[in-house]
Amino acid sequence: MEKKKNQMDLRNAPVGIFDSGVGGLTVAREVMRNMPQERIVYFGDTARVPYGSKSKETIIRYSRQIIRFLMTRGVKAIVVACNTASAFALEEIKKEIEIPILGVVQPGAKVACAATKNKKIGVIGTEGTVRSQIYTKFVQQWDPEIQVIGKACPLFVPLVEEGWLKDPVTDEVAQRYLSELKEKGIDTLVLGCTHYPLLRSTVRKVMGDEVTLVNPAYETALELRELLCANELDNRGESEQNGEKYQFFVSDAADKFKQFANSILPYDIETTKQIQIEEF
Ligand code: DGL
Repeated sequence: MEKKKNQMDLRNAPVGIFDSGVGGLTVAREVMRNMPQERIVYFGDTARVPYGSKSKETIIRYSRQIIRFLMTRGVKAIVVACNTASAFALEEIKKEIEIPILGVVQPGAKVACAATKNKKIGVIGTEGTVRSQIYTKFVQQWDPEIQVIGKACPLFVPLVEEGWLKDPVTDEVAQRYLSELKEKGIDTLVLGCTHYPLLRSTVRKVMGDEVTLVNPAYETALELRELLCANELDNRGESEQNGEKYQFFVSDAADKFKQFANSILPYDIETTKQIQIEEF
Protein backbone atom coordinates (compact mmCIF):
# COMPACT_ATOMS: atom_id res chain seq x y z
CA MET A 1 0.00 0.00 0.00
CA GLU A 2 2.77 2.42 1.09
CA LYS A 3 4.85 1.45 -1.98
CA LYS A 4 1.88 2.15 -4.27
CA LYS A 5 1.37 5.59 -2.67
CA ASN A 6 5.06 6.46 -3.09
CA GLN A 7 4.90 5.49 -6.74
CA MET A 8 1.79 7.63 -7.21
CA ASP A 9 3.58 10.59 -5.58
CA LEU A 10 6.53 10.06 -7.88
CA ARG A 11 4.29 9.94 -10.93
CA ASN A 12 2.74 13.20 -9.79
CA ALA A 13 6.13 14.94 -9.45
CA PRO A 14 6.98 17.57 -12.08
CA VAL A 15 9.33 17.25 -15.02
CA GLY A 16 12.22 19.72 -14.94
CA ILE A 17 12.93 21.52 -18.21
CA PHE A 18 15.78 23.97 -18.64
CA ASP A 19 17.30 26.20 -21.26
CA SER A 20 19.62 29.18 -21.49
CA GLY A 21 16.53 31.39 -21.70
CA VAL A 22 13.21 31.49 -23.50
CA GLY A 23 14.06 29.08 -26.36
CA GLY A 24 13.32 25.96 -24.34
CA LEU A 25 9.71 27.10 -24.11
CA THR A 26 9.31 25.57 -27.58
CA VAL A 27 10.05 22.23 -25.92
CA ALA A 28 7.84 22.97 -22.88
CA ARG A 29 5.05 23.82 -25.34
CA GLU A 30 5.31 20.38 -26.97
CA VAL A 31 5.31 18.67 -23.57
CA MET A 32 2.18 20.63 -22.59
CA ARG A 33 0.46 19.68 -25.85
CA ASN A 34 1.45 16.03 -25.92
CA MET A 35 1.40 15.22 -22.20
CA PRO A 36 -1.26 17.43 -20.67
CA GLN A 37 -1.18 15.50 -17.37
CA GLU A 38 2.45 16.32 -16.67
CA ARG A 39 3.48 19.09 -14.31
CA ILE A 40 6.49 21.20 -15.29
CA VAL A 41 9.17 23.22 -13.52
CA TYR A 42 10.89 25.35 -16.15
CA PHE A 43 14.15 27.21 -15.61
CA GLY A 44 15.44 29.79 -18.10
CA ASP A 45 18.97 31.05 -17.47
CA THR A 46 18.15 34.55 -18.70
CA ALA A 47 21.05 36.15 -16.78
CA ARG A 48 23.67 34.07 -18.56
CA VAL A 49 22.19 33.60 -22.03
CA PRO A 50 23.58 33.05 -24.69
CA TYR A 51 25.15 29.64 -24.12
CA GLY A 52 25.91 29.28 -27.82
CA SER A 53 29.18 31.24 -27.70
CA LYS A 54 30.48 29.89 -24.35
CA SER A 55 32.97 27.11 -23.61
CA LYS A 56 32.11 23.52 -22.81
CA GLU A 57 33.45 23.88 -19.22
CA THR A 58 31.20 26.87 -18.57
CA ILE A 59 28.11 25.13 -19.97
CA ILE A 60 28.79 22.06 -17.80
CA ARG A 61 29.14 24.27 -14.71
CA TYR A 62 25.90 26.13 -15.48
CA SER A 63 24.04 22.88 -16.19
CA ARG A 64 25.18 21.34 -12.89
CA GLN A 65 23.89 24.37 -10.96
CA ILE A 66 20.55 24.26 -12.75
CA ILE A 67 20.15 20.55 -12.11
CA ARG A 68 20.88 21.09 -8.41
CA PHE A 69 18.17 23.76 -8.39
CA LEU A 70 15.65 21.56 -10.22
CA MET A 71 16.30 18.71 -7.77
CA THR A 72 15.28 21.03 -4.92
CA ARG A 73 11.88 21.31 -6.67
CA GLY A 74 11.45 17.52 -6.54
CA VAL A 75 11.54 16.81 -10.28
CA LYS A 76 11.20 13.18 -11.42
CA ALA A 77 13.02 13.63 -14.76
CA ILE A 78 14.92 16.37 -16.59
CA VAL A 79 14.80 17.64 -20.17
CA VAL A 80 17.83 19.62 -21.31
CA ALA A 81 15.82 21.83 -23.67
CA CYS A 82 18.87 23.57 -25.10
CA ASN A 83 20.87 22.24 -28.00
CA THR A 84 24.12 23.78 -26.79
CA ALA A 85 23.77 22.30 -23.28
CA SER A 86 22.71 18.96 -24.79
CA ALA A 87 25.82 19.05 -26.98
CA PHE A 88 28.31 20.07 -24.31
CA ALA A 89 26.98 18.91 -20.94
CA LEU A 90 24.47 16.07 -21.24
CA GLU A 91 26.96 13.21 -21.43
CA GLU A 92 28.77 14.48 -18.35
CA ILE A 93 25.77 15.27 -16.16
CA LYS A 94 24.00 12.04 -17.07
CA LYS A 95 26.64 10.18 -15.08
CA GLU A 96 25.99 12.32 -12.01
CA ILE A 97 22.25 12.01 -11.45
CA GLU A 98 19.92 9.14 -10.75
CA ILE A 99 16.73 10.36 -12.37
CA PRO A 100 16.04 10.02 -16.13
CA ILE A 101 17.45 12.84 -18.24
CA LEU A 102 17.30 13.54 -21.97
CA GLY A 103 18.41 16.23 -24.35
CA VAL A 104 17.10 17.54 -27.65
CA VAL A 105 19.90 16.52 -30.00
CA GLN A 106 19.45 12.76 -30.16
CA PRO A 107 15.69 12.94 -30.84
CA GLY A 108 16.26 15.56 -33.56
CA ALA A 109 19.03 13.52 -35.19
CA LYS A 110 16.81 10.43 -35.21
CA VAL A 111 13.97 12.15 -37.08
CA ALA A 112 16.38 13.71 -39.56
CA CYS A 113 17.85 10.26 -40.37
CA ALA A 114 14.38 8.90 -40.99
CA ALA A 115 13.44 11.87 -43.18
CA THR A 116 16.41 12.18 -45.53
CA LYS A 117 16.27 10.41 -48.87
CA ASN A 118 19.38 11.78 -50.54
CA LYS A 119 21.46 11.33 -47.33
CA LYS A 120 22.31 15.01 -47.09
CA ILE A 121 21.19 16.70 -43.88
CA GLY A 122 21.75 20.32 -42.90
CA VAL A 123 21.91 21.39 -39.25
CA ILE A 124 21.57 24.99 -38.16
CA GLY A 125 22.39 25.95 -34.59
CA THR A 126 24.57 28.07 -32.34
CA GLU A 127 28.33 28.26 -32.83
CA GLY A 128 28.79 25.81 -29.93
CA THR A 129 26.37 23.21 -31.27
CA VAL A 130 27.79 23.34 -34.78
CA ARG A 131 31.39 23.25 -33.52
CA SER A 132 30.66 20.23 -31.30
CA GLN A 133 29.53 18.21 -34.37
CA ILE A 134 27.14 16.41 -32.04
CA TYR A 135 24.46 15.97 -34.71
CA THR A 136 27.01 14.41 -37.06
CA LYS A 137 28.01 11.99 -34.31
CA PHE A 138 24.45 10.78 -33.67
CA VAL A 139 23.42 10.71 -37.33
CA GLN A 140 26.48 8.73 -38.39
CA GLN A 141 25.97 6.26 -35.56
CA TRP A 142 22.75 5.30 -37.31
CA ASP A 143 23.94 5.67 -40.87
CA PRO A 144 27.60 6.48 -41.62
CA GLU A 145 26.74 7.28 -45.23
CA ILE A 146 24.70 10.34 -44.33
CA GLN A 147 26.50 13.62 -44.84
CA VAL A 148 25.78 16.32 -42.23
CA ILE A 149 26.45 19.94 -43.10
CA GLY A 150 26.39 22.37 -40.18
CA LYS A 151 25.87 26.10 -40.29
CA ALA A 152 25.94 28.43 -37.27
CA CYS A 153 23.30 31.16 -37.40
CA PRO A 154 24.16 33.31 -34.36
CA LEU A 155 21.96 36.27 -35.30
CA PHE A 156 18.79 34.17 -35.24
CA VAL A 157 18.67 34.08 -31.42
CA PRO A 158 18.62 37.87 -30.84
CA LEU A 159 16.15 38.30 -33.71
CA VAL A 160 13.74 35.88 -32.05
CA GLU A 161 14.24 37.49 -28.64
CA GLU A 162 13.46 40.85 -30.23
CA GLY A 163 10.23 39.36 -31.54
CA TRP A 164 11.20 39.91 -35.21
CA LEU A 165 9.72 36.61 -36.30
CA LYS A 166 8.24 37.95 -39.52
CA ASP A 167 10.39 40.85 -40.57
CA PRO A 168 12.34 41.83 -43.70
CA VAL A 169 15.56 42.03 -41.66
CA THR A 170 15.10 38.44 -40.49
CA ASP A 171 14.33 37.38 -44.08
CA GLU A 172 17.58 38.97 -45.26
CA VAL A 173 19.64 37.33 -42.48
CA ALA A 174 18.04 33.94 -43.23
CA GLN A 175 18.82 34.33 -46.91
CA ARG A 176 22.49 34.97 -46.16
CA TYR A 177 22.85 32.08 -43.72
CA LEU A 178 20.84 29.50 -45.59
CA SER A 179 21.59 29.98 -49.28
CA GLU A 180 24.88 28.09 -48.83
CA LEU A 181 23.00 25.07 -47.41
CA LYS A 182 20.45 25.23 -50.19
CA GLU A 183 23.19 25.15 -52.81
CA LYS A 184 24.65 22.02 -51.19
CA GLY A 185 21.45 20.14 -52.06
CA ILE A 186 20.32 19.03 -48.60
CA ASP A 187 16.83 17.52 -48.47
CA THR A 188 16.42 17.76 -44.66
CA LEU A 189 17.22 20.62 -42.29
CA VAL A 190 17.36 20.31 -38.51
CA LEU A 191 16.33 23.42 -36.59
CA GLY A 192 19.10 22.66 -34.10
CA CYS A 193 18.55 25.53 -31.69
CA THR A 194 15.55 25.95 -29.43
CA HIS A 195 14.75 29.41 -30.82
CA TYR A 196 14.67 28.37 -34.46
CA PRO A 197 11.27 26.64 -34.57
CA LEU A 198 9.87 30.15 -34.06
CA LEU A 199 11.48 31.14 -37.38
CA ARG A 200 10.07 28.14 -39.19
CA SER A 201 8.13 30.10 -41.82
CA THR A 202 11.14 32.34 -42.58
CA VAL A 203 13.38 29.30 -42.98
CA ARG A 204 10.72 27.60 -45.10
CA LYS A 205 10.59 30.60 -47.45
CA VAL A 206 14.32 30.36 -48.12
CA MET A 207 14.65 26.56 -48.26
CA GLY A 208 11.48 25.88 -50.25
CA ASP A 209 8.88 23.14 -49.81
CA GLU A 210 11.10 20.32 -50.99
CA VAL A 211 13.33 20.47 -47.88
CA THR A 212 11.95 18.73 -44.76
CA LEU A 213 12.32 20.89 -41.66
CA VAL A 214 12.91 18.96 -38.44
CA ASN A 215 11.88 20.48 -35.12
CA PRO A 216 13.58 18.41 -32.38
CA ALA A 217 11.19 19.83 -29.75
CA TYR A 218 8.28 17.67 -30.89
CA GLU A 219 10.31 14.46 -31.01
CA THR A 220 11.84 15.26 -27.61
CA ALA A 221 8.36 15.43 -26.07
CA LEU A 222 7.54 12.02 -27.55
CA GLU A 223 10.80 10.56 -26.23
CA LEU A 224 10.09 12.04 -22.82
CA ARG A 225 6.76 10.24 -22.80
CA GLU A 226 8.46 6.93 -23.66
CA LEU A 227 11.11 7.48 -21.01
CA LEU A 228 8.54 8.27 -18.30
CA CYS A 229 6.42 5.25 -19.22
CA ALA A 230 9.46 2.94 -19.28
CA ASN A 231 10.34 4.12 -15.75
CA GLU A 232 6.71 4.00 -14.54
CA LEU A 233 6.86 7.72 -13.94
CA ASP A 234 4.18 8.98 -16.33
CA ASN A 235 1.48 10.99 -14.59
CA ARG A 236 -1.86 9.23 -14.90
CA GLY A 237 -3.75 11.91 -13.04
CA GLU A 238 -4.39 9.58 -10.11
CA SER A 239 -3.13 11.96 -7.40
CA GLU A 240 -4.63 15.17 -6.20
CA GLN A 241 -2.97 18.14 -7.95
CA ASN A 242 -1.69 20.63 -5.41
CA GLY A 243 -0.05 23.91 -6.33
CA GLU A 244 0.59 25.43 -9.73
CA LYS A 245 0.80 22.90 -12.56
CA TYR A 246 3.43 24.85 -14.47
CA GLN A 247 6.10 26.78 -12.59
CA PHE A 248 8.60 29.14 -14.19
CA PHE A 249 11.92 30.31 -12.79
CA VAL A 250 14.56 32.55 -14.35
CA SER A 251 17.90 34.02 -13.31
CA ASP A 252 17.03 37.54 -14.55
CA ALA A 253 14.38 39.76 -16.16
CA ALA A 254 11.31 37.80 -15.06
CA ASP A 255 8.83 40.21 -16.64
CA LYS A 256 10.43 40.09 -20.07
CA PHE A 257 10.48 36.29 -19.89
CA LYS A 258 6.81 36.19 -18.89
CA GLN A 259 5.81 38.42 -21.79
CA PHE A 260 7.68 36.23 -24.26
CA ALA A 261 6.29 33.03 -22.75
CA ASN A 262 2.75 34.33 -22.95
CA SER A 263 3.20 35.03 -26.64
CA ILE A 264 4.15 31.45 -27.48
CA LEU A 265 2.60 29.12 -24.89
CA PRO A 266 -0.93 27.76 -25.23
CA TYR A 267 -1.93 29.37 -21.90
CA ASP A 268 -1.05 32.48 -19.88
CA ILE A 269 1.67 32.29 -17.22
CA GLU A 270 0.74 34.03 -14.00
CA THR A 271 4.05 34.14 -12.16
CA THR A 272 7.70 33.85 -13.00
CA LYS A 273 10.14 33.81 -10.09
CA GLN A 274 13.67 35.10 -10.25
CA ILE A 275 16.28 33.04 -8.38
CA GLN A 276 20.03 33.32 -7.68
CA ILE A 277 21.23 30.36 -9.70
CA GLU A 278 24.88 30.90 -8.67
CA GLU A 279 23.86 29.84 -5.14
CA PHE A 280 23.16 26.27 -6.24
N1 DGL B 1 19.06 27.60 -26.25
C1 DGL B 1 20.22 27.71 -27.08
C2 DGL B 1 20.32 26.45 -27.96
O1 DGL B 1 19.36 25.76 -28.21
C3 DGL B 1 20.17 28.94 -27.96
C4 DGL B 1 20.38 30.24 -27.24
C5 DGL B 1 21.76 30.38 -26.65
O2 DGL B 1 22.77 30.58 -27.37
O3 DGL B 1 21.84 30.30 -25.44
O4 DGL B 1 21.38 26.14 -28.41
